[in-house]
This record gives sequence, structure tokens and C-alpha cells, in this order.
Amino acid sequence: MPRTTAEIRQAYLDFFKSKGHAVIAGASLVPENDPTVLFTTAGMHPLVPYLMGEKHPLGRRLCDVQLCVRTQDIDEVGDMSHLTCFEMLGNWSLGDYFKKGAIEMSFEFLTSQQWLGIDEKMLAVTCFEGDKDAPKDEESATIWESVGIPRERIGFLPKAKNWWGPAGKTGPCGPDTEMFYWVGPSVFPPSRSNPENDDANWLEIWNDVFMQYNKQEDGSFVPLAQQNVDTGMGLERVAAVMQGVKSVYETDAFSSLVELARGVHILDDTELGRYVTRHVRIIVDHLKASTFMIADGVRPSNVDQGYVLRKIIRRALRSIRRLNIEVHADFETRMYCSVIAQEIIHQYGDCYSHLQEKSREIYQTLNHEEGQFKHTLSEGLRHYDKTVLKTGMTIIDGATAFRLYDTYGFPIEMTRDLAAEGHLKVDEEGFKKAFEQHQKLSRAGAEKKFAGGLADHSAETTKLHTATHLLNAALRKILGDGIWQKGSNITAERLRFDFSYPDKMTPEQIKQAEDFVNEAIKADVPVSYSVMTVDEAKAAGAIGVFESKYGEKVKVYTMGGDTELGKNSELGQKSELGRNVPVFSKEICGGPHVAKTGMLGHFKIQKEESSSAGVRRIKAVVSGGPQEIEVATEAK
Ligand code: ALA
Repeated sequence: MPRTTAEIRQAYLDFFKSKGHAVIAGASLVPENDPTVLFTTAGMHPLVPYLMGEKHPLGRRLCDVQLCVRTQDIDEVGDMSHLTCFEMLGNWSLGDYFKKGAIEMSFEFLTSQQWLGIDEKMLAVTCFEGDKDAPKDEESATIWESVGIPRERIGFLPKAKNWWGPAGKTGPCGPDTEMFYWVGPSVFPPSRSNPENDDANWLEIWNDVFMQYNKQEDGSFVPLAQQNVDTGMGLERVAAVMQGVKSVYETDAFSSLVELARGVHILDDTELGRYVTRHVRIIVDHLKASTFMIADGVRPSNVDQGYVLRKIIRRALRSIRRLNIEVHADFETRMYCSVIAQEIIHQYGDCYSHLQEKSREIYQTLNHEEGQFKHTLSEGLRHYDKTVLKTGMTIIDGATAFRLYDTYGFPIEMTRDLAAEGHLKVDEEGFKKAFEQHQKLSRAGAEKKFAGGLADHSAETTKLHTATHLLNAALRKILGDGIWQKGSNITAERLRFDFSYPDKMTPEQIKQAEDFVNEAIKADVPVSYSVMTVDEAKAAGAIGVFESKYGEKVKVYTMGGDTELGKNSELGQKSELGRNVPVFSKEICGGPHVAKTGMLGHFKIQKEESSSAGVRRIKAVVSGGPQEIEVATEAK
């Protein structure tokens, strides 16, 4: 029977291969072409098009090992089972087997002596209890009974628990059935116990999702053309089960890492031991996530993936500092992160060979970030001494806490810790207010970012900016949705627009693009914008740069449609009220734009040429419009 993490990983793939599944490679941690999530959080992410019905080249049964990052439970890291970085074993049916096939295979892999050989007395499952969107999943419960799980071990739970997806606001999703292993105080679970009534004593190890719905923008669930299965088994948790240990951090894959991070500290069951254990686990987990992120090309920064990376490296460093490793070696001058990364690469390099290939970049990035953080940290501590300790402050006010966060990179937890050491309090409400104020300002900054390469806000530049949106929409219509804006540069004389496309455009395509834009100009449709979150913008079908911090608001400019109602139909379709006003363009942008497309005059493409590999460049002009323009305003 497989015991080590490597053996379980291999056994899983072997089992599903024996059941006719093709093994596919795990995807990058940074999702390609999916702005709805920052990181790959489940094996199904790269498979969304196939769950929606596209044909997969390797067939209808697939399996893989996917390294995932999830940060929503970051505060739980350090307990028994939470990790921000974990491996998910997954198998998929793309319109092939459904509930019966999935459950029978899951049960066989878990319990057969040939595979994991887990005693079925230690297992329980949950099924979806049903609501207005989908019925109670009696079907799955009956299948579980037929393979040998007694009724008393079958719980029913609502959507919040037993439903998976969509990963973004819309997309494939469905009820799921989850498998649990008994981790309670008795050897065997007491009668009638299951995760519905005894949540804390059951550890979820596997989730079979029956993806049969497509969640719509309006919140409704429409049946998908095909019934899919999407499963995810937590490798670290299963390793803990197979190795008979209480925590994922006690499994073979973690032991050398924990050993290294704990240094001279003892991980016993005293209060101090538990405190140390928690920080050791944070160090190991966060640096593992960081190592894999850097290997996939993420670099610390203040936005998007880079922001998360910076945050977790800093959290790890904070824990390193909390453990007073500096007592035994010099915290200021010795680099800790890369020492641990080295062991991570050693531990995972066989399975993830890109870690070895990228090792230099991993060490350099970690060393640089660690050095920089230590520098700001000591500056921050000096600032703290000066503004807090020396002034005799008893409550650290919001502005001071925010300054420590914003200028010195102190997470609020760190300020809280420091305050607790000196028996001080932190005005967390005040901190929150200062934080929100800052977000408002950065929103204004983001609008500037989305405005892109405008030379000025003159009438001519503004016209060409509006023309650029229409051109972008035209190109997507003519060359397909695969094209992406790669850059734009607009002056009062001409627009320049770069986009990803492998071939030279034909003269007919160029003519079609011009015609599309000129048609939109002739239609003289209104232009206005609405403010919304990036998710809402995406759901509304807007194109544009989706990278932004969580929750950040953006402006979406719409050209055509019922803009005065703030409602727009699909691109090129009639508006909802049936008025014959097509939507020509809908794009995230900071503005400015003209108020009506008729102000552009006439549009002409002057040049279409190669810009760099796979990127084309168009230069175009407008002429004959009015000298004075009105600027587009917010939709009423
Ligand atoms: N996508 C499912 C999950 O992540 C399997 O739990």
C-alpha cells in the first residue's frame, strides 16, 4: 500500500490510468487568460473550456496533479490541516461517467487493498441537501449506500458546503459529494456521527463535484450541455491519513522542512511548544508557496500576484523573527528564506523539475525581498520607537498603524504583536478607516493606469482614444476573441495600437476593421461609463486589463446601447428594449472619451505592421470631426 507522499501521488495516477484516464500536466500557478482568479486554486481551472463542452485532445477522461495556492484561509495556516500551497489530485469526466462512475471509483481507490486500503469504518460522506436551484442529491447518497457507506455516515449539507464553483462569478458548477476521514478522539467514530452533526472530528479528504450547471450573470443556474465530474483530493491530507499522523505538517514531505525551520526550538504540547509549532508551520507553508510562485514567474510587487507573494514572504519573515532565530544567528545579516527554499527544491524537485531549473531566480528573489524587508523592518522599528514608545502613546492610533503598514510594510498583525509586547492597544477601527481612505486614492491611481498611453487630454487625442476602443472591438470581431491589446500610444496626430495576432492582416480584414469603426461613427451612438468592480466588469462582457487588487473599482466605457439606462446588450446586438442601438464597444478604461461617436469624423488605418514576435501594430487617424468635443460622462 502506498504510504509516502510520492507513492500516493503515483498510485492515484496509476489507478485512474487503469480506469481509462489520460494523465495531463498540471498547469502554472498563474492562470493563463483567466483574469477571474490570481492563482490556480483547483485542478479544474485550466479545464473550464472543456467542462463547457469544448473537445479535449486527450479524450473525455483525464487526471492530474495540480499544485494550488489558496489564500482565503491564510489565518488558519499553522493548524492541523490548512495550507496555502497544496497538491490536488484530480480526475475528470468531460461528459463521460457521472455520479455512479465517480463515486464507485473514489470508493475503490480509498478502500481497495490494492490501492489505499483505508478501513471504510473510518469514512463518512456528505451530499447536497437541495435548495431552489437544484434538488437534494439522494442519487449520490443511494450510490454511496450501494458501495457500503451506511446511512448514518451520510450527511446532507447546504450550498455553502456541498456545492462547488464557479471559480469566478459565472461558469460551470454543481452539487458535490465530499469524503471525510475520522480524526476524532475515539479509535472509531461513534454511531450516527458524520460531518453534518460532528464537523470538527471529520477531515475532508476528497471532493467529487458534479458539474452540470452554468451559473449565469443574473445568478441563475442553467443546465450545461454535458454532465461533468470534477474531483479534487488533498494529497497532504491523504498522506497524513496513510501515515497515521495528526497533521499534514507531520507527513514525510514536511518533516525535513519543519526540522530546518524549528532550529533549536522544541515542538511539544506546552503553550510555548504550540506557539512555536504554529510559526514553524507558517514559515514552511508560506515559503513553499513563495518558492512555487517564483518558479512560475511571479515577482514581489505591490499589485496582483506579486502583492500576495510579497505579503506571504513578509509573513514568513515575521514568524522567523517571532521565533527569535536571531538569537542563534544574525537575523539582520543571514538569509533564511533561501535556506528553506533550498530544502523545498530538494524535496519537490523530482516531481516538479522546473524548481531546479529556476533555483537561481528563486534564491535571488527571496534574498532580495528578505534584505529589503529587513531594512524596512529596522527602519519601521526605529519609527515605532520614536512615534510610539518615546511619546508614551498607550493606544496606537489608526494613522500611525497605517503608516507602519504603508511605509514600513508592517502587517497589522505585526503592529498588534509589537503593541502587545509593550501592553499597548491598537486602534484597529482607525487603521481600517485609514486603509479604506488609501484604497479610494489608489482607485483614482488605477484609473490613471487604465488610461494607458494618452499623450494629453486634448480634443484630438480624446477622439483617437475613442477610435482606439472601436478599433479594438473591430479587431476582436474580425480576427476573433484571441486577440489582446498589447499596448497603445495615442497623440493628437495618430493612434498606435499593438495587439497579439500571429499573421499579417489581409487588405480585406483591414477594410472590414475600418468599416466597423466608420459604421459606429455613422451611428453616432452615445458613449458613457459606469463604475463597477473588476468582476462585475468581466461579467458585463467588458474587455480590457483585468489585473487589479481585489475589490478595486474600475470604469467601464460603453459605446452604444441604452447607455442612459446603464444597461447594455451584447456587443453588436440590439439593446434590451429592442431599440436598434447596437453596443459597439465595452471596455475597462480610465477615459476620457468623446460623448458621441459621431464626433470622430472619419477613421482610416494608415499602417499595419509587425511590432514584435506575435504582435501586430496598427497606426490610424481620424479626420473631419468637430474641433470642439463633449466628453463622455457617467451613465445615469
Ligand atoms: N474543484 C473541486 C475542489 O476544488 C474538486 O474541491
